[in-house]
Amino acid sequence: MQKIRKAVLPVAGWGTRFLPATKAMPKEMFPIIDKPVIQFIVEELLGAGIENIIFVTGRHKRPIEHHFDINSDLERHLEEAGKEAILENIREVSHMINPIYIRQKQQLGLGHAVLTSEPVVGQEPFIVSLGDIILEKGRKALSDMISIYNRFGKSVIALFEVHPSETNKYGIVDVKEVEEGVYKVEDLVEKPDSGEAPSNLAIVGRYIFTPLIFEKLKETKPGKGGEIQLTDAMRMLLEDEVIYAYKIEGKVHDTGNPIDYLKTVIDFALEREDLREDVLEYLQEVISRYTQLIDTP
Ligand code: UTP
Repeated sequence: MQKIRKAVLPVAGWGTRFLPATKAMPKEMFPIIDKPVIQFIVEELLGAGIENIIFVTGRHKRPIEHHFDINSDLERHLEEAGKEAILENIREVSHMINPIYIRQKQQLGLGHAVLTSEPVVGQEPFIVSLGDIILEKGRKALSDMISIYNRFGKSVIALFEVHPSETNKYGIVDVKEVEEGVYKVEDLVEKPDSGEAPSNLAIVGRYIFTPLIFEKLKETKPGKGGEIQLTDAMRMLLEDEVIYAYKIEGKVHDTGNPIDYLKTVIDFALEREDLREDVLEYLQEVISRYTQLIDTP
């Protein structure tokens, strides 16, 4: 069986939910305090042993390319300034990663972005990680998904449980558990209303695909919003091949829209010892200020 050696990160989207901030700056470079979103995703991949990372980029995505370059001047400056911890982090990521950039000429959807990577991926199984979703336990999830692939040799997708009232925001799957923690996908439904959803298990932005997905993407007609949807190609893939699924543990941070981005920043700040106390104090002050405002007739 072929080993998984490559990951595709589609980062060419418009980011319309974040305009005007995304006019000249990719949302994948937005900081979660002091680290851009995309670095969390790259660190997750490096942690799972994947170093060949193919970014599907578009207009205004240059900062991503600069971010993963080796910057010798900056490294020298940090060395001289004795800033060892930050230097180590900067070195580790940029020295380990083997970045490959490929351009999606037109933003025709996530499925199209994945198809754009075909000449670089070739006839190999590969990972797709969405550029704006951070998983609390991402390394474990990816490593477990790779193990499932290594056992069965078929596509594997990550799932998480959503509240039944929220199924209309996600791709929802119908699954059958084949052994503890490993499921087989029976059906895929895009954004069903809660009454019609086959389950409350949603697709979460981490996938392992066999190269057959490329053939299915080539046959996929534009779907919702006129875009080539990855979910539509996955439904076709399911007709020919088994797709396995893995239920992730821990929190899912969607950084692609303002409110969930804000929540992510707060969550990460509260996890950090150097910030926790100050942030909590500030949040308490804000809550009491606004509670008073609401209570005052
Ligand atoms: P989103 O659904 O978040 O779309 O794409 P978007 O365009 O980035 O953001 P909005 O909806 O306009 O606010 C999910 C992932 O797929 C990538 C995005 O960069 C994001 O990481 N994508 C989407 C592409 O690479 N190309 C596309 O044509 C569409």
